[in-house]
Amino acid sequence: MKKPPERITTSIPGLDKILEGGFIPGSIILLSGEAGTGKTMLSCQFLWKNIANGMKGLYITLQQLADNILDDVEYIEKDLRSAVEKGTFKIVYIDIQRVKKLVEIVIEYLDEMKADLLVIDSITLFCEVTDKSIEIRYNMIKLMKELKKRNVTAILISEVPIENWSKFGVEEFVADGVILMKAGVDVIGGSPRSLIIKKMRRTNHDMQVHPLEIDSEGIRLTKAK
Ligand SMILES: Nc1ncnc2c1ncn2[C@@H]1O[C@H](COP(=O)(O)OP(=O)(O)OP(=O)(O)O)[C@@H](O)[C@H]1O
Ligand SMILES: [Mg+2]
Repeated sequence: MKKPPERITTSIPGLDKILEGGFIPGSIILLSGEAGTGKTMLSCQFLWKNIANGMKGLYITLQQLADNILDDVEYIEKDLRSAVEKGTFKIVYIDIQRVKKLVEIVIEYLDEMKADLLVIDSITLFCEVTDKSIEIRYNMIKLMKELKKRNVTAILISEVPIENWSKFGVEEFVADGVILMKAGVDVIGGSPRSLIIKKMRRTNHDMQVHPLEIDSEGIRLTKAK
């Protein structure tokens, strides 16, 4: 029988359990959600734990300044800042004027630090450099190809309008996995925050709404099976 693929921990308590152990190395995950649903926190927590386990991570931010992101994840800020000093973590702000060159810039950083993990916050801004859907798809595929070549495990953050999986309807097809985060009164089951796995290639996952909590100790699923 074929050996099941190894997994990289998501580092979100409860999430690995519903993903057969975590993300498959080299997979590209679209993490979608409206504003304030916890996308940045989940991504930082993912990098933090895996960096502590000996991996190298790169966080590309196109909106918030690097320092602001680190300030927002107070519970792991110290560890992340010390990883920056050690060279196992890099957080880079890319100005909107340079977004057209995002793939080239990302590749340069990935190769320079030999990163295993990548977060792009957000891929929506990268998609917005053009309004032609064929070009959006081309740009996404170009990025995917480069990441796959390097076997980088990536979270691409996607800012979505309510009830959508992605903004342009292209991103979720290119990604290996899609996770949607929600917050607010419309959430089924009455929990103010939740997470749904829409797609995860090579993984037996459910499609239930999983309640989620965020507090000063981080982000976690509360009633994961
Ligand atoms: N210490 C805390 N206790 C409770 N909730 C918190 C705490 N810190 C952050 N949050 C919640 O997490 C949200 C911020 O999460 P995060 O920045 O990861 O969201 P996001 O999805 O990346 O948002 P955006 O799309 O605006 O970038 C806050 O709006 C708040 O609701
Ligand atoms: Mg964010």
